[in-house]
Amino acid sequence: MLIRDMLEVDLDMVCKIEEETFSDPWSKTSFLKSISDANNHYLVAIIDSKLVGYCGYYGVSGEGYIYNVAVDKDYRRQGIGYQMLVELIKKAEARGITALTLEVRQSNMAAIHLYKRLGFSQEGIRKDFYTKPIEDAIIMWRNPIQ
Ligand SMILES: CC(C)(COP(=O)(O)OP(=O)(O)OC[C@H]1O[C@@H](n2cnc3c(N)ncnc32)[C@H](O)[C@@H]1OP(=O)(O)O)[C@@H](O)C(=O)NCCC(=O)NCCS
Repeated sequence: MLIRDMLEVDLDMVCKIEEETFSDPWSKTSFLKSISDANNHYLVAIIDSKLVGYCGYYGVSGEGYIYNVAVDKDYRRQGIGYQMLVELIKKAEARGITALTLEVRQSNMAAIHLYKRLGFSQEGIRKDFYTKPIEDAIIMWRNPIQ
């Protein structure tokens, strides 16, 4: 598996996974804006020339906010999400990010287990944070990042 920076040419495949995965998917324009902004860092995972996952964070003033994490449904439970995030955490640390946070639907046990395995811990709840359907978000932090 190759993990590398997300490029504009990846965005059709990224949006395909995004649309299959989330009820409120990001548009291609949103991803394009994000990868063009130097405060963001986005990675993709490639297996046999196929894009199978992506993740990214926005970092400012030493704090990083992980926005997007998804793995193609046919490639889950193979360690891809874990390996992508290990790489993203390394990249963030190299750029001077000292703490990372994210939100996750409280029913999303797969993602919560993944983040806990990566050393994130639950620090709070955002009531009714999500729509389609409405649901609370669990706020997780990896602080310090090391
Ligand atoms: C969450 C997601 C990214 C995990 O990716 P993945 O490549 O399947 O995860 P991995 O194979 O790297 O799993 C790493 C760890 O995460 C946890 N995990 C992953 N999927 C799980 C599941 N279905 N049930 C329970 N734990 C799970 C386990 O602890 C696992 O370690 P283990 O295999 O040693 O038990 C993937 O399920 C996905 O794309 N889900 C839809 C999008 C999403 O929910 N994104 C997160 C939004 S906040």
